[in-house]
Amino acid sequence: MLTHRHPTGPPGEEQTEDSDEMAGDSAGLFRLVGDVRAGRRSTRRGIGPALANQELARVLRDQDTLLRPAPRNSVFTWDSPHSEVRFLPRERLLSDAERAAALRAFTGVLRTGEFTSGSGVSAFEEALTDFLGVPHAVATSSGTDALIIVLRALGVGPGDEVVMPANSFAATENAVLACGAEPVLADVDSHYTLAPAAVEARITARTKAVLPVHLHGKLADMGGLRAVCERHGLLLVEDACQAMGGTGVAQHADAAVLSFNPYKNFGVCGKAGAVVTRSPELAHRCRVVSYHGFAPGSKNVKAELFGFNSGMDNTQAEIALGLLPFLSLNNFRRMFLAARYLDALAPLAESGTLGLPELTPDHVWHLFPVQVELAAGGRDLLRERLWARHGVETDIYYPVLTHQQKPYAHRGRVPVSALPRTEHLHSRVLHLPLHNALSIAEQDRVIEAFYECVRHAE
Ligand SMILES: Cc1ncc(COP(=O)(O)O)c(C=O)c1O
Repeated sequence: MLTHRHPTGPPGEEQTEDSDEMAGDSAGLFRLVGDVRAGRRSTRRGIGPALANQELARVLRDQDTLLRPAPRNSVFTWDSPHSEVRFLPRERLLSDAERAAALRAFTGVLRTGEFTSGSGVSAFEEALTDFLGVPHAVATSSGTDALIIVLRALGVGPGDEVVMPANSFAATENAVLACGAEPVLADVDSHYTLAPAAVEARITARTKAVLPVHLHGKLADMGGLRAVCERHGLLLVEDACQAMGGTGVAQHADAAVLSFNPYKNFGVCGKAGAVVTRSPELAHRCRVVSYHGFAPGSKNVKAELFGFNSGMDNTQAEIALGLLPFLSLNNFRRMFLAARYLDALAPLAESGTLGLPELTPDHVWHLFPVQVELAAGGRDLLRERLWARHGVETDIYYPVLTHQQKPYAHRGRVPVSALPRTEHLHSRVLHLPLHNALSIAEQDRVIEAFYECVRHAE
């Protein structure tokens, strides 16, 4: 971890000595972002050897790169190339360097013909365990499939209840339903993630597991949730699909699930995901369930009656290996941009117009949410004006809460009304553009537009 022994001196001249290497996970990036914002050089010992850290390590070898102003700072782009600031422009999901790496990987696969199975899968699993510090990874065909696989491998099935939040992507609930179990919704805390006390209040004799979601890239209160699970003898599985690179993922739970779809912090050129776990037995069972019930390594010999065809394709695994070196640098960019938003929008938080998230070491900023504290309807008008007058696109993730979806009523369940915090946060939330390629100038345009629209609304 980095230590800061000499925090004095003019900005840009301050130096700190690092006692050892930092890691490219969110806690390491949190320190780095703090140093860069304070104009401190704190990176002299570099970054750990995991593949996911490679591009950040390269940048940090030139110690001053991060401290340089535009246009010599190559870590961010500084221009505003388009007339609009789109929320997540698909044509910019990959940088030039990432595109080249993906192409190299794909070309390699074309030569071997190893499209579905091949050595890339286990190599990627190993790289993942290295980076996350979790001993076992099973690469899958999506985050959704990984959720279904791990729940089934843990024996979740008909008659069981799984406690989860109501503000997640549909995949979380669908995975529980796919196992024949019952999703039970519990309220969240102010960080949008499952509140341990609310979970405890929803436990019944049928509760089998708790399934928190690290929404927006912020880890749920895993210590608190683990304590609840231990008290009641429950399984704990993290939906970490939005939290790749978050410090602590899979450290407190039976398993964590990741998504590598192209819109995530780390995405491949298609669908992919993984289960990561500290348990060798669970990893083994996930492998069996993910491929037709076959015993790993024994072709066409079943160890279980049933399994899916849901392993990661070798093509995507090779691309993932090509793109993994960029992960920490991309997560650094996201955290730095989040910190810039927080600084710039702080006056609106002080005046009570906005609620802002917190910069914490367990956050990878998949999304940047704000709470708009305007009169009823004000959030939606603000959103419309941002787009119509300024060409700034925002979004709401996700527009309909799980228990307010139409088919929920058809399932014969009584809609849950015990989710006051979830509903309160949901009625005010707005997500601002934040992605790997967002330029500083684009972000400044978002901030300026935001102030104009808020002034107009007040
Ligand atoms: C919270 C959450 N859970 C599950 C998923 C499903 O992941 P995938 O799209 O890889 O199936 C996603 C991503 O879409 C997600 O954001």
